[in-house]
Amino acid sequence: MQKTIAILEGDGIGPEIMREAIKVLRAVETKYDHQFTLNHAPFGAGAYFAEGSPFPEQTKKVCDEADVIMKGPVGLAVEKMNDIPQEHRPEVGAILPLRKRYDTFANYRPVRLPKSLAGFSPLKEEMIGDGIDILMIRELVGGIYFGKKTEGTATALKYAEDECIYTEDQVRRVAVVAFEEARKGKTQMVNIHKANVLATSRFWNVIVEDVAKQYPDVPYQSVLVDNAAYQLVINPSMFNGVVLLENMMGDILTDQAGGVIGSLGLMPSACIGPEKGYVEPAHGSAPDIAGQNIANPYSMIGSVALMFDKCLDSPKEAQEIWDALFAVFEKGYTTSELSAGYAEDKVLSTSAFGDMVVEIIQG
Ligand code: IPM
Ligand code: MN
Repeated sequence: MQKTIAILEGDGIGPEIMREAIKVLRAVETKYDHQFTLNHAPFGAGAYFAEGSPFPEQTKKVCDEADVIMKGPVGLAVEKMNDIPQEHRPEVGAILPLRKRYDTFANYRPVRLPKSLAGFSPLKEEMIGDGIDILMIRELVGGIYFGKKTEGTATALKYAEDECIYTEDQVRRVAVVAFEEARKGKTQMVNIHKANVLATSRFWNVIVEDVAKQYPDVPYQSVLVDNAAYQLVINPSMFNGVVLLENMMGDILTDQAGGVIGSLGLMPSACIGPEKGYVEPAHGSAPDIAGQNIANPYSMIGSVALMFDKCLDSPKEAQEIWDALFAVFEKGYTTSELSAGYAEDKVLSTSAFGDMVVEIIQG
Protein backbone atom coordinates (compact mmCIF):
# COMPACT_ATOMS: atom_id res chain seq x y z
CA MET A 1 0.00 0.00 0.00
CA GLN A 2 0.92 3.64 -0.42
CA LYS A 3 0.08 5.97 2.45
CA THR A 4 0.91 9.43 3.72
CA ILE A 5 1.54 9.63 7.45
CA ALA A 6 1.69 12.85 9.46
CA ILE A 7 4.39 12.72 12.14
CA LEU A 8 3.83 14.90 15.21
CA GLU A 9 6.73 14.01 17.44
CA GLY A 10 5.68 16.30 20.30
CA ASP A 11 7.63 17.34 23.39
CA GLY A 12 9.91 15.79 26.01
CA ILE A 13 10.72 12.19 25.15
CA GLY A 14 8.49 12.50 22.04
CA PRO A 15 11.27 12.90 19.45
CA GLU A 16 13.37 10.02 20.79
CA ILE A 17 10.55 7.47 21.04
CA MET A 18 9.15 8.63 17.68
CA ARG A 19 12.56 8.00 16.10
CA GLU A 20 12.36 4.36 17.20
CA ALA A 21 8.76 4.02 16.04
CA ILE A 22 9.76 5.31 12.60
CA LYS A 23 12.65 2.81 12.43
CA VAL A 24 10.15 0.02 13.06
CA LEU A 25 7.67 1.49 10.57
CA ARG A 26 10.41 1.59 7.91
CA ALA A 27 11.40 -2.03 8.65
CA VAL A 28 7.80 -3.17 8.14
CA GLU A 29 7.49 -0.98 5.04
CA THR A 30 10.47 -2.73 3.43
CA LYS A 31 9.47 -6.24 4.49
CA TYR A 32 5.90 -5.89 3.22
CA ASP A 33 6.68 -3.73 0.23
CA HIS A 34 4.64 -0.71 1.28
CA GLN A 35 5.43 2.94 0.51
CA PHE A 36 4.98 5.47 3.27
CA THR A 37 5.51 9.19 2.87
CA LEU A 38 6.18 10.79 6.25
CA ASN A 39 5.37 14.47 6.74
CA HIS A 40 6.68 15.97 9.96
CA ALA A 41 4.84 18.89 11.59
CA PRO A 42 5.17 20.75 14.90
CA PHE A 43 2.61 20.00 17.64
CA GLY A 44 2.52 20.67 21.38
CA ALA A 45 4.37 23.04 23.69
CA GLY A 46 7.38 23.28 21.35
CA ALA A 47 5.04 24.34 18.54
CA TYR A 48 3.54 27.02 20.80
CA PHE A 49 6.94 28.53 21.61
CA ALA A 50 8.09 28.35 17.98
CA GLU A 51 4.89 29.42 16.24
CA GLY A 52 2.49 30.81 18.83
CA SER A 53 0.12 27.85 18.60
CA PRO A 54 0.36 24.27 19.90
CA PHE A 55 -1.60 23.08 16.83
CA PRO A 56 -0.53 25.46 14.03
CA GLU A 57 -2.60 25.86 10.84
CA GLN A 58 0.16 24.27 8.77
CA THR A 59 0.09 21.21 11.04
CA LYS A 60 -3.68 20.97 10.61
CA LYS A 61 -3.13 20.95 6.86
CA VAL A 62 -0.48 18.23 7.09
CA CYS A 63 -2.87 16.14 9.22
CA ASP A 64 -5.85 16.78 6.91
CA GLU A 65 -3.82 15.60 3.94
CA ALA A 66 -2.45 12.50 5.69
CA ASP A 67 -4.12 9.09 5.69
CA VAL A 68 -3.17 8.60 9.32
CA ILE A 69 -1.33 10.49 12.06
CA MET A 70 1.39 9.34 14.44
CA LYS A 71 1.56 11.61 17.48
CA GLY A 72 4.10 11.60 20.30
CA PRO A 73 3.43 12.82 23.85
CA VAL A 74 3.16 16.56 24.50
CA GLY A 75 3.70 18.94 27.40
CA LEU A 76 6.55 20.33 29.46
CA ALA A 77 7.52 20.43 33.12
CA VAL A 78 4.94 22.30 35.25
CA GLU A 79 7.09 25.45 35.68
CA LYS A 80 7.46 25.83 31.91
CA MET A 81 3.78 25.11 31.28
CA ASN A 82 2.98 28.11 33.47
CA ASP A 83 4.47 30.32 30.74
CA ILE A 84 1.78 29.14 28.33
CA PRO A 85 -1.69 30.73 28.48
CA GLN A 86 -4.36 28.16 29.42
CA GLU A 87 -6.00 28.08 25.97
CA HIS A 88 -2.64 27.37 24.28
CA ARG A 89 -1.52 24.59 26.61
CA PRO A 90 -1.02 21.38 24.68
CA GLU A 91 -3.92 19.51 26.38
CA VAL A 92 -6.73 21.95 25.60
CA GLY A 93 -4.98 23.72 22.71
CA ALA A 94 -3.72 20.72 20.77
CA ILE A 95 -4.80 17.23 21.92
CA LEU A 96 -8.51 17.91 22.44
CA PRO A 97 -8.78 19.91 19.17
CA LEU A 98 -7.01 17.07 17.34
CA ARG A 99 -9.51 14.55 18.75
CA LYS A 100 -12.41 16.82 17.88
CA ARG A 101 -11.16 17.58 14.37
CA TYR A 102 -11.20 13.92 13.37
CA ASP A 103 -14.00 12.90 15.75
CA THR A 104 -11.79 10.13 17.12
CA PHE A 105 -14.44 8.65 19.38
CA ALA A 106 -12.93 5.21 19.96
CA ASN A 107 -9.70 5.10 21.92
CA TYR A 108 -8.12 1.64 21.99
CA ARG A 109 -5.80 1.11 24.94
CA PRO A 110 -4.56 -2.48 25.15
CA VAL A 111 -3.24 -3.57 28.54
CA ARG A 112 -1.04 -6.62 28.09
CA LEU A 113 1.22 -8.48 30.45
CA PRO A 114 1.92 -12.13 29.65
CA LYS A 115 2.43 -14.45 32.62
CA SER A 116 6.13 -14.68 31.77
CA LEU A 117 6.52 -10.93 32.40
CA ALA A 118 4.54 -10.87 35.65
CA GLY A 119 7.68 -9.56 37.35
CA PHE A 120 7.10 -6.14 35.71
CA SER A 121 3.95 -5.67 37.76
CA PRO A 122 4.10 -4.18 41.25
CA LEU A 123 1.47 -6.79 42.19
CA LYS A 124 2.42 -10.18 43.63
CA GLU A 125 3.21 -12.57 40.83
CA GLU A 126 0.32 -14.94 41.63
CA MET A 127 -2.16 -12.08 41.19
CA ILE A 128 -1.24 -11.85 37.51
CA GLY A 129 -2.57 -15.39 37.08
CA ASP A 130 -2.33 -16.54 33.47
CA GLY A 131 -1.55 -13.02 32.34
CA ILE A 132 -3.37 -9.76 31.68
CA ASP A 133 -4.89 -9.12 28.27
CA ILE A 134 -7.44 -6.34 28.41
CA LEU A 135 -8.51 -4.08 25.57
CA MET A 136 -9.75 -0.91 27.21
CA ILE A 137 -11.95 1.11 24.87
CA ARG A 138 -12.41 4.67 26.02
CA GLU A 139 -14.97 7.06 24.55
CA LEU A 140 -12.77 9.99 23.54
CA VAL A 141 -14.78 12.95 22.25
CA GLY A 142 -17.70 13.30 24.65
CA GLY A 143 -18.62 13.60 28.31
CA ILE A 144 -17.17 16.06 30.78
CA TYR A 145 -14.05 16.66 28.66
CA PHE A 146 -16.03 18.39 25.96
CA GLY A 147 -18.87 19.92 27.99
CA LYS A 148 -19.21 23.66 28.54
CA LYS A 149 -16.74 25.05 31.08
CA THR A 150 -17.86 27.92 33.31
CA GLU A 151 -16.08 29.85 36.00
CA GLY A 152 -18.20 32.27 37.99
CA THR A 153 -16.27 35.10 39.56
CA ALA A 154 -18.77 37.93 39.26
CA THR A 155 -20.55 37.26 42.55
CA ALA A 156 -19.28 36.84 46.08
CA LEU A 157 -19.70 33.10 45.72
CA LYS A 158 -17.08 31.94 43.25
CA TYR A 159 -17.71 28.66 41.48
CA ALA A 160 -16.67 26.51 38.56
CA GLU A 161 -18.73 24.14 36.48
CA ASP A 162 -17.96 21.35 34.00
CA GLU A 163 -20.93 20.12 32.07
CA CYS A 164 -21.11 16.39 31.27
CA ILE A 165 -23.29 15.38 28.35
CA TYR A 166 -23.61 12.12 26.42
CA THR A 167 -25.93 11.77 23.45
CA GLU A 168 -27.42 8.49 22.30
CA ASP A 169 -25.33 8.43 19.12
CA GLN A 170 -22.13 9.00 21.04
CA VAL A 171 -22.76 6.07 23.36
CA ARG A 172 -24.10 3.73 20.71
CA ARG A 173 -21.22 4.05 18.27
CA VAL A 174 -18.50 3.35 20.85
CA ALA A 175 -20.53 0.51 22.40
CA VAL A 176 -20.77 -1.08 18.94
CA VAL A 177 -16.97 -0.84 18.58
CA ALA A 178 -16.51 -2.52 21.97
CA PHE A 179 -18.97 -5.35 21.28
CA GLU A 180 -17.48 -5.91 17.81
CA GLU A 181 -14.00 -6.22 19.30
CA ALA A 182 -15.26 -8.63 21.96
CA ARG A 183 -17.02 -10.75 19.33
CA LYS A 184 -13.88 -10.77 17.16
CA GLY A 185 -11.67 -11.78 20.08
CA LYS A 186 -14.32 -14.19 21.49
CA THR A 187 -14.10 -12.44 24.85
CA GLN A 188 -16.42 -10.85 27.37
CA MET A 189 -17.39 -7.16 27.31
CA VAL A 190 -17.29 -5.32 30.62
CA ASN A 191 -19.07 -1.96 30.83
CA ILE A 192 -17.82 0.51 33.46
CA HIS A 193 -20.17 3.13 34.92
CA LYS A 194 -21.29 5.14 37.95
CA ALA A 195 -25.04 4.69 37.53
CA ASN A 196 -25.68 4.82 41.29
CA VAL A 197 -24.94 8.56 41.16
CA LEU A 198 -24.67 9.94 37.61
CA ALA A 199 -27.55 10.50 35.19
CA THR A 200 -25.09 10.26 32.28
CA SER A 201 -24.07 6.79 33.50
CA ARG A 202 -27.70 5.61 33.84
CA PHE A 203 -28.32 6.83 30.28
CA TRP A 204 -25.06 5.26 29.08
CA ASN A 205 -26.08 1.88 30.53
CA VAL A 206 -29.51 1.93 28.88
CA ILE A 207 -27.88 2.42 25.46
CA VAL A 208 -25.09 -0.09 26.06
CA GLU A 209 -27.64 -2.70 27.19
CA ASP A 210 -29.69 -2.03 24.08
CA VAL A 211 -26.60 -2.59 21.90
CA ALA A 212 -25.86 -5.76 23.92
CA LYS A 213 -29.08 -7.32 22.54
CA GLN A 214 -27.40 -7.45 19.13
CA TYR A 215 -24.51 -9.46 20.63
CA PRO A 216 -26.10 -12.37 22.50
CA ASP A 217 -22.91 -14.39 21.86
CA VAL A 218 -20.78 -11.90 23.84
CA PRO A 219 -20.76 -12.40 27.63
CA TYR A 220 -21.61 -9.01 29.12
CA GLN A 221 -21.39 -7.47 32.57
CA SER A 222 -21.48 -3.98 34.11
CA VAL A 223 -19.17 -2.94 36.93
CA LEU A 224 -19.29 0.28 38.97
CA VAL A 225 -16.19 2.36 38.35
CA ASP A 226 -15.06 2.52 41.97
CA ASN A 227 -15.34 -1.24 42.29
CA ALA A 228 -13.56 -1.63 38.94
CA ALA A 229 -10.63 0.44 40.27
CA TYR A 230 -10.43 -1.93 43.23
CA GLN A 231 -10.80 -5.13 41.22
CA LEU A 232 -8.21 -3.96 38.68
CA VAL A 233 -5.62 -4.20 41.46
CA ILE A 234 -6.99 -7.21 43.34
CA ASN A 235 -7.88 -9.38 40.36
CA PRO A 236 -6.85 -7.69 37.09
CA SER A 237 -7.40 -10.73 34.88
CA MET A 238 -11.13 -10.73 35.66
CA PHE A 239 -11.22 -7.93 33.06
CA ASN A 240 -9.48 -9.95 30.35
CA GLY A 241 -11.38 -9.15 27.19
CA VAL A 242 -12.88 -5.79 26.29
CA VAL A 243 -13.64 -3.03 28.81
CA LEU A 244 -15.77 -0.07 27.75
CA LEU A 245 -15.40 3.28 29.54
CA GLU A 246 -16.66 6.81 29.11
CA ASN A 247 -14.04 9.53 28.59
CA MET A 248 -13.07 10.59 32.12
CA MET A 249 -13.31 7.15 33.72
CA GLY A 250 -11.30 5.82 30.80
CA ASP A 251 -8.61 8.41 31.34
CA ILE A 252 -8.21 7.40 34.97
CA LEU A 253 -8.51 3.63 34.74
CA THR A 254 -6.17 3.32 31.75
CA ASP A 255 -3.43 5.07 33.74
CA GLN A 256 -4.14 2.76 36.64
CA ALA A 257 -3.91 -0.20 34.28
CA GLY A 258 -0.49 1.07 33.17
CA GLY A 259 0.53 0.99 36.83
CA VAL A 260 -0.78 -2.56 37.22
CA ILE A 261 1.40 -3.85 34.37
CA GLY A 262 4.39 -1.94 35.71
CA SER A 263 4.77 1.12 33.50
CA LEU A 264 2.89 3.66 31.44
CA GLY A 265 5.69 3.03 28.96
CA LEU A 266 3.81 -0.17 28.10
CA MET A 267 0.63 1.69 27.12
CA PRO A 268 0.19 2.40 23.40
CA SER A 269 -3.09 3.68 22.01
CA ALA A 270 -5.08 4.36 18.86
CA CYS A 271 -7.80 6.98 18.49
CA ILE A 272 -10.23 6.16 15.71
CA GLY A 273 -12.81 8.36 14.02
CA PRO A 274 -15.28 7.72 11.22
CA GLU A 275 -12.79 8.75 8.54
CA LYS A 276 -9.39 9.07 10.10
CA GLY A 277 -7.44 7.90 13.06
CA TYR A 278 -4.31 8.79 14.91
CA VAL A 279 -2.09 6.88 17.32
CA GLU A 280 -0.30 8.07 20.45
CA PRO A 281 1.20 6.65 23.62
CA ALA A 282 -1.23 6.91 26.56
CA HIS A 283 1.40 8.64 28.70
CA GLY A 284 2.89 12.12 28.96
CA SER A 285 6.14 13.56 27.70
CA ALA A 286 8.28 12.69 30.77
CA PRO A 287 10.37 15.89 30.58
CA ASP A 288 12.49 14.70 33.53
CA ILE A 289 14.10 11.96 31.43
CA ALA A 290 13.95 13.63 28.00
CA GLY A 291 17.08 13.53 25.86
CA GLN A 292 18.78 10.80 27.91
CA ASN A 293 18.03 7.89 25.57
CA ILE A 294 16.47 5.92 28.44
CA ALA A 295 12.74 6.31 27.74
CA ASN A 296 10.84 3.14 26.91
CA PRO A 297 9.76 3.33 23.24
CA TYR A 298 7.34 0.36 23.59
CA SER A 299 4.26 2.61 23.82
CA MET A 300 5.14 4.48 20.62
CA ILE A 301 6.18 1.32 18.73
CA GLY A 302 3.05 -0.47 19.97
CA SER A 303 1.09 2.51 18.66
CA VAL A 304 2.53 1.74 15.20
CA ALA A 305 1.21 -1.82 15.59
CA LEU A 306 -2.21 -0.41 16.48
CA MET A 307 -2.00 1.91 13.47
CA PHE A 308 -1.50 -1.07 11.14
CA ASP A 309 -4.33 -2.96 12.78
CA LYS A 310 -6.95 -0.27 13.41
CA CYS A 311 -6.16 2.43 10.82
CA LEU A 312 -4.56 0.59 7.89
CA ASP A 313 -6.44 -2.70 8.05
CA SER A 314 -3.17 -4.66 8.13
CA PRO A 315 -3.35 -7.10 11.06
CA LYS A 316 -0.40 -9.18 9.84
CA GLU A 317 1.98 -6.24 10.01
CA ALA A 318 0.55 -5.36 13.42
CA GLN A 319 1.10 -8.88 14.74
CA GLU A 320 4.68 -8.85 13.46
CA ILE A 321 5.37 -5.73 15.56
CA TRP A 322 3.65 -7.09 18.68
CA ASP A 323 5.61 -10.33 18.41
CA ALA A 324 8.89 -8.44 18.04
CA LEU A 325 8.12 -6.19 21.03
CA PHE A 326 7.41 -9.13 23.31
CA ALA A 327 10.37 -11.08 21.88
CA VAL A 328 12.72 -8.36 23.18
CA PHE A 329 11.45 -8.96 26.71
CA GLU A 330 11.35 -12.74 26.27
CA LYS A 331 15.05 -12.64 25.33
CA GLY A 332 15.64 -11.30 28.83
CA TYR A 333 16.06 -7.62 27.99
CA THR A 334 14.23 -4.73 29.60
CA THR A 335 14.00 -0.95 29.71
CA SER A 336 15.28 1.41 32.33
CA GLU A 337 12.05 2.01 34.30
CA LEU A 338 11.44 -1.77 34.47
CA SER A 339 15.00 -2.72 35.38
CA ALA A 340 14.63 -3.77 39.02
CA GLY A 341 16.37 -7.12 39.41
CA TYR A 342 17.96 -7.03 35.94
CA ALA A 343 21.70 -7.05 35.23
CA GLU A 344 22.94 -3.76 33.79
CA ASP A 345 23.80 -5.24 30.38
CA LYS A 346 20.16 -6.34 29.97
CA VAL A 347 18.80 -2.82 30.32
CA LEU A 348 18.30 -1.34 26.85
CA SER A 349 18.52 2.30 25.89
CA THR A 350 15.70 3.80 23.83
CA SER A 351 17.62 3.36 20.59
CA ALA A 352 18.95 -0.13 21.43
CA PHE A 353 15.38 -1.28 22.10
CA GLY A 354 14.24 0.05 18.72
CA ASP A 355 17.23 -1.58 17.00
CA MET A 356 16.40 -4.92 18.55
CA VAL A 357 12.76 -4.74 17.46
CA VAL A 358 13.94 -3.95 13.91
CA GLU A 359 16.45 -6.86 13.92
CA ILE A 360 13.73 -9.28 15.00
CA ILE A 361 11.39 -8.03 12.27
CA GLN A 362 14.13 -8.36 9.67
CA GLY A 363 14.60 -11.95 10.86
C1 IPM B 1 -4.57 10.95 27.86
C2 IPM B 1 -4.11 12.24 28.45
C3 IPM B 1 -5.01 13.36 27.95
C4 IPM B 1 -6.42 13.04 28.41
C5 IPM B 1 -4.61 14.76 28.41
C6 IPM B 1 -3.16 15.05 28.10
C7 IPM B 1 -5.52 15.80 27.83
O1 IPM B 1 -4.08 12.17 29.84
O2 IPM B 1 -4.58 10.83 26.61
O3 IPM B 1 -4.95 10.04 28.61
O4 IPM B 1 -6.79 13.38 29.54
O5 IPM B 1 -7.16 12.47 27.62
MN1 MN C 1 -4.57 10.23 30.61
